[in-house]
Amino acid sequence: MLGEEVLIVKNLNKSLKGKQIIHDLSFTVQKGQIYGFLGPNGSGKTTTIRMMTGMIKPTSGSIKIMGCDIQEDFHKAMQNLSAIVEHPALFDYMSGWQNLIQTIRMLDKKVNIDHIKECIKTVELTDRIHDKVKDYSLGMKQRLAIAQSLISSPKLLILDEPTNGMDPSGIKDIRSLIKKLSKEHKITIFISSHLLVEIENLCDHVLIINKGKQIASGSVQELVKESSSEFTIIVDSVDIDEAIHVLQEQGIKVHKENDKLLVQCLKEEIPHLVNLLYKKDIYVYILNQKENSLEDYFLSVTREVI
Ligand SMILES: Nc1ncnc2c1ncn2[C@@H]1O[C@H](COP(=O)(O)OP(=O)(O)OP(=O)(O)O)[C@@H](O)[C@H]1O
Ligand SMILES: [Mg+2]
Repeated sequence: MLGEEVLIVKNLNKSLKGKQIIHDLSFTVQKGQIYGFLGPNGSGKTTTIRMMTGMIKPTSGSIKIMGCDIQEDFHKAMQNLSAIVEHPALFDYMSGWQNLIQTIRMLDKKVNIDHIKECIKTVELTDRIHDKVKDYSLGMKQRLAIAQSLISSPKLLILDEPTNGMDPSGIKDIRSLIKKLSKEHKITIFISSHLLVEIENLCDHVLIINKGKQIASGSVQELVKESSSEFTIIVDSVDIDEAIHVLQEQGIKVHKENDKLLVQCLKEEIPHLVNLLYKKDIYVYILNQKENSLEDYFLSVTREVI
């Protein structure tokens, strides 16, 4: 059920080696959400997640998990959280089962054997749990890592690029597992990716960052709506540079792609812009509204604007 704030990040900043990596990031994850955290490579996803899991300290700002500030009450905040950051931490030479037992030892609390079996069943590893992890596929390793995370019955599960390097069938398995954890186990999930297509159909809410800054946030439907305000304009190739100049003078975001111009503006602005170009002897031959793909939108907001 929505309405309860599981994670609140406020004015988060991080500098590393004198360089600001994360700039004033604020967002809230509600109970029951599958929350997508998107950004191209190097945009600061793992750095943000490292702060959320207490692996590194923020330069400033606050993080609250289920109402507990991680700086003030670290252990209580972490009681509700499990995370897999970058690569799953597994011992290759042990079996899946032995890995889980090892995890429980480190948890320093009693865990019922039926609960361990239930976690294994949830990730569909029952048949292979006594095999050595070195013989697991990437997808199986990730599923074992998720079982490991489930042992402590977390309220919030953070997954940093969980499908990285997997083949399509592995990706599909992880996706349906995430849906199952959300629906049947009522776990709130925060998932990062640099590929929107991987989580487009998974998340209730998407936050897009670039160079450590928030650039868009909303439901998939809301972002798709915004994405519709991108147009393709084709002018004579000799006029392209002048056309860019004219459009930029109007404060319009424009990006050159081969011999086309990709223009971000409101539909209502189009007649004025075409007229303006015409007055400069630049003729618009073709004008198309781009497809409403969130992937296009993601690319358009994260690429450099020329
Ligand atoms: N320890 C560090 N010292 C200096 N710079 C760092 C350090 N760790 C990360 N960075 C820089 O911070 C930026 C963000 O890195 P981060 O790993 O958080 O990005 P990411 O979004 O997770 O990328 P990817 O999709 O490749 O996993 C990068 O420019 C990276 O080079
Ligand atoms: Mg990363």
